[in-house]
Amino acid sequence: IDHTSREKYRAQFHFTPPEKWMNDPNGMVYFEGEYHLFYQHHPEGTTWGPMHWGHAISTDLVHWEHRPIALEPDENGQIFSGSAVVDWEDTSGFFGGKPGLVAIFTHADAYPETGRPRQRQSLAYSQDKGRTWTVYGGNPVLSNEQITDFRDPKVFWYASKKEWVMVLAAGDRVHFYTSPNLIEWTFQSEFGAVEGSHDGVWECPDLIELPVDGSVDQTQWVLIVSIGDDPQFAEGSRTQYFIGSFDGSVFINEASPDTVIWLDHGRDNYAGVTWSDVQATDNSKLFIGWMSNWKYANLTPTISWRSAMTLPRTLHLKTGTAGVRLVQEPISELRMLRMEGLSWNDATICSGQNLLSGLDYEYYEIECEIDLGDAEEVGFKLRKSSHEVTIVGYNTISQTLFVDRTHSGESGFHEAFPCKHGVQMDTKNGHLKLHVFVDHSSIEVFAMDGEIVITDQIFPDPSSTGMEMYAKGGEAKVVSLSLHPLKSIYSL
Ligand code: FRU
Repeated sequence: IDHTSREKYRAQFHFTPPEKWMNDPNGMVYFEGEYHLFYQHHPEGTTWGPMHWGHAISTDLVHWEHRPIALEPDENGQIFSGSAVVDWEDTSGFFGGKPGLVAIFTHADAYPETGRPRQRQSLAYSQDKGRTWTVYGGNPVLSNEQITDFRDPKVFWYASKKEWVMVLAAGDRVHFYTSPNLIEWTFQSEFGAVEGSHDGVWECPDLIELPVDGSVDQTQWVLIVSIGDDPQFAEGSRTQYFIGSFDGSVFINEASPDTVIWLDHGRDNYAGVTWSDVQATDNSKLFIGWMSNWKYANLTPTISWRSAMTLPRTLHLKTGTAGVRLVQEPISELRMLRMEGLSWNDATICSGQNLLSGLDYEYYEIECEIDLGDAEEVGFKLRKSSHEVTIVGYNTISQTLFVDRTHSGESGFHEAFPCKHGVQMDTKNGHLKLHVFVDHSSIEVFAMDGEIVITDQIFPDPSSTGMEMYAKGGEAKVVSLSLHPLKSIYSL
């Protein structure tokens, strides 16, 4: 067993860098049976610093093989966030007619005359399935002297016009560009002057097309936009999305401009984007986010490394009462980690009774369906000891799903960390469904089959392993509950 797996707080089934600092997931692409995950990485320290692209490869999205650093700062600057694609038709000419991988990323340096930050888009390519990378000699390929925050290119092939589309963060807007060959880019349009939240600078956009309610002929486009931390807002950095249409040049938002739709209602899912070149049979997309928050990312209490990625998730679109919304579900591959579980059916829960008493696990998965009955609040107390607890609950009076991490463990590293936050959520006739993943330093709650998601870091003591299922102010019925301790991805 890898020694890193024994470190305090080290995630046991989430991706973490072997050591040192990590932020955004980058360059996710699937090619020749392998999923690539690159990430913003500072190999010299556990706080943000000169950015490189760290790299890992997986065949199942659960177990990862760490690879050498793929891209490092050069004469054009540091390597900020970006994407990667398979250039199937060799439109770039980098591959002698064969398919190959092209990374499109931001080079960040400063204008020599003024010292003002400069961000320009560049390319690198790999002729050996991502093992080694050549930085393109003609870099940068796209710049803009007016806009300072001009970064995080996400590129995809727009089949009906046979061209590449780039969506790029530009101040607190996004810009769309197109290209025949990934090298020459033409501006098409800007989006976001009045739409959505502008609580911070816009970063790491993604644009994806998804079927609505599983239909093959009705699709909509989803524009995902992360927004940076602003000291004014307790929530810190978070991710919003827009639903609309896209014709290869212009994105049209379907909702009223002031509608803000959050991707996740926790505090720790940022800069997430989707994998390129994955062909799911149901045309869903595969998403992963950085499981931290710029408000305190540099301060979290891990020693030799910092931060983890969220679980990989599939994205679908589903029509609900508020309109079409993203649904996120943990990838099914995670089931390979399940160990023999425990299950309950038709149990009553009320004040003072704990269905899960005597059980203790450090990392596990819970799936349950609850009839809320006349209870005022129902939920789980997890990673519990006499002085620590993380609560996932549903309050039937305010109709809110919440996570309370005020007493979840180490939390004094930033005043915004210990908090309880929730979101209004309808249950189907008092029928609540929860799917919860608990790791050494995180909790992810997928409610109502992924319609609502809460992702949060927690830092409980390793000895806080107790658990409780509770109901307050009335009686609820557990229709079904299963608890699976999970295998560590480090175990053989
Ligand atoms: C988002 C971000 C990106 C940038 C990168 C730098 O978290 O700020 O906009 O490219 O991190 O590490």
